[in-house]
Amino acid sequence: MINKSNQPIGIFDSGVGGTSIWKEIQQLLPNEDTIYLADSLHAPYGQKSKEEIVHLSIKNTEFLINKQCKLIIVACNTATTNAIKYLRSNYSVPFIGIEPAIKPASLQTKTRTIGILATKGTLNSELFEKTSSLIDNDIKIIERIGEGLVELIEQGRVDSKEMTSLLESYLHPMLKENIDCLVLGCTHYPYLINAIKKITKNSINIIDSGEAVARQTKRILNQKKLLNNIKHNVSNIFYTNKDITVLKNILDGVNYSLIEKLDF
Ligand code: DGL
Repeated sequence: MINKSNQPIGIFDSGVGGTSIWKEIQQLLPNEDTIYLADSLHAPYGQKSKEEIVHLSIKNTEFLINKQCKLIIVACNTATTNAIKYLRSNYSVPFIGIEPAIKPASLQTKTRTIGILATKGTLNSELFEKTSSLIDNDIKIIERIGEGLVELIEQGRVDSKEMTSLLESYLHPMLKENIDCLVLGCTHYPYLINAIKKITKNSINIIDSGEAVARQTKRILNQKKLLNNIKHNVSNIFYTNKDITVLKNILDGVNYSLIEKLDF
């Protein structure tokens, strides 16, 4: 019988942003081999229709299943909120998704006002609507589409003037409304935390779901007896279908086994 626990965890995102999740996984589950797929050629997903997002998510899933992945992390809020239901009902591999952490933010806020920055695809999804309908009625949620942010990160322009002015234009109105928590509803945005802290003068809590995804992954692997507990030379493979330098720069300091550009 094949020992499935030795097989890798597959992770996909519309681009390089899901590496923020990969970093959490690697910290919590250091014995797991991983295969990361950045579909940067088709980023941003956030502006696409649900049908297109489902179609791309199927393609990414099948790629990772062909690589023998034992579990797949949809490291993209947009793909999770639009496609995970389809994926779960059509493939037997377990899926872990990521959704904006508005529930934890609603438990933390003192001003009863929280901001959320996410893609159009996430904010308009049925799943997001359902999750936000469960939040206490007296909490004000200020939603903002982070238009242009994913594009700049995909171009490797995290520290650019354009980034600062886009972020300012999204955050200043939220600050005026007295938010004390900002939910990062996109896996690309943890790379903007320093810039956000600067703009908000460290005055708000920045909440993202990366760590929670890693904990949930561990829980599910455990439950399904798929945890890899054997110490070995871990293999961490990264694939992209676009500019390899952007991915390499974002993985600066990371110990990876391979980064490869694919026609995909
Ligand atoms: N990282 C994706 C997310 O979490 C970005 C989506 C996009 O490509 O627009 O939503």
